[in-house]
Amino acid sequence: MDLKQYVTIVQDWPKPGIVFKDITTLMDNGAAYKYATDQIVEYARDKNIDLVVGPEARGFIIGCPVAYSLEVGFAPVRKEGKLPRETIKVEYGLEYGKDVLTIHKDAIKPGQRVLITDDLLATGGTIEATIKLVEQLGGIVAGIAFLIELTDLDGKDKLDGYDVLTLMSF
Ligand code: PRP
Ligand code: ADE
Repeated sequence: MDLKQYVTIVQDWPKPGIVFKDITTLMDNGAAYKYATDQIVEYARDKNIDLVVGPEARGFIIGCPVAYSLEVGFAPVRKEGKLPRETIKVEYGLEYGKDVLTIHKDAIKPGQRVLITDDLLATGGTIEATIKLVEQLGGIVAGIAFLIELTDLDGKDKLDGYDVLTLMSF
């Protein structure tokens, strides 16, 4: 299936100069959403994944159906102030700003094999911060899966040495 036809390109959103890749038109097509999910599940199947971790909010959209299919749990990475119990945090830069990501301190047990998911790799700031959170808790990043990679932004450079799947490149 050609997944690219389901992604809507929105010029100058949320700021002038940003070409936004809107995945909501992929998600609201049942066959496309299932196909994309299944591709990631197949990639992860032989990696002995114990837990899926994804950053707010679009990382949940990708990670939760993958976790369900792999029959493992899902741990959310959230922006600061959203998780109710003790967290660790990492600051990171975005294509259009700066933010802080957090995870519950007890979300990952040392040695657990983690699949990280997100919709899109741009500068790589979000995923780099997510990797730091997982590794600070003793998790092993066994794979990282995205729907989309923006190749101009060289986010992949931050993922040297990691096992990465991207389903589409723009
Ligand atoms: C977007 C996207 C990725 C991240 C990619 O999330 O879903 O998580 O930016 O950019 P990067 O590679 O430059 O870090 P955003 O922070 O906009 O949050 P959202 O998912 O809640 O919309
Ligand atoms: N997150 C960061 N950059 C983005 C873009 N260009 N489109 C969609 N999501 C993004």
